Amino acid sequence: MTRTVYVNGDYLPEGEAKVSVFDRGFLMADGVYEVTSVLGGRLIDFDGHAARLDRSLTELGMTMPMAAEDLRGIHRELVARNGVEDGMVYLQITRGAPADRDFAYPPQDTPQTVVLFTQNKPGLADSPAARTGIRVISIDDRRWGRRDIKTVQLLYPSMGKMMAKAAGADDAWMVEDGHVTEGTSNNAYIVAGGTIVTRDLGDHILSGITRAAVLRFAREAQMKVEERAFTIAEAQAADEAFITSASTFVMPVVAIDGAPIGDGTPGPVARRLREIYFEESRKAAS
Ligand code: PDD
Repeated sequence: MTRTVYVNGDYLPEGEAKVSVFDRGFLMADGVYEVTSVLGGRLIDFDGHAARLDRSLTELGMTMPMAAEDLRGIHRELVARNGVEDGMVYLQITRGAPADRDFAYPPQDTPQTVVLFTQNKPGLADSPAARTGIRVISIDDRRWGRRDIKTVQLLYPSMGKMMAKAAGADDAWMVEDGHVTEGTSNNAYIVAGGTIVTRDLGDHILSGITRAAVLRFAREAQMKVEERAFTIAEAQAADEAFITSASTFVMPVVAIDGAPIGDGTPGPVARRLREIYFEESRKAAS
């Protein structure tokens, strides 16, 4: 089955979808994106992703191309047309394609480029990695200073994943001024003495939609949560570690820079939060 994608108002076979070579997303990484997971054919936390998209666009002097409800409609249409049960919808909005390359922003009325496509991932919620946990390495955080904006500027995270792969690990946690910021494409957590610790929000990390949901569920379940910086040494000495994102949900981390966390297997807090996350987010899915 040929995948149907969405480009600027049209639903097209992926081979026929085209974007200009002058697109500012292509030339300048001048665009933002969202990844919304799909479970059982329904969108997980779409409202959260739409709200963050609006904020990312606003921070870059852009606006929503249409109402959030219309964006939800396009997401649903693509999920239906592509028969996605479990997977993701990727959405990207750029500042459009002016007539030529120029550092200055094009006039405000330049049409934005709006692209959406689905990724089919059968059994996404039942990934084998969640049973074994993943291994991470630590690397310097060398990204730009506005990580709260979800831009398509993902070269350093890509490099980080390649560094992890070269070291025989699954992913990397980034460290700035001695403290963990986040994973290459996820938020990072440790559990120590029964308290869940994750980096406080600011322009140094992305405000994860999964993070917000998981912290809410944890607090509702009377778990203790601290939003503060922590070091790799503190993480290695913790009882548990895990990451969250729209594509991994809650994923246990069992080793950091080769040092096992706890007994080197997924811990009870991460496993419980993963269960609660699926239960609650499936209930609220749209
Ligand atoms: N990444 N931090 C970074 C740097 C991210 O790229 C992501 C998401 C997150 C988690 O955010 P959320 O819970 O809203 O997915 C944190 C997506 C999944 C990606 O780039 O594929």
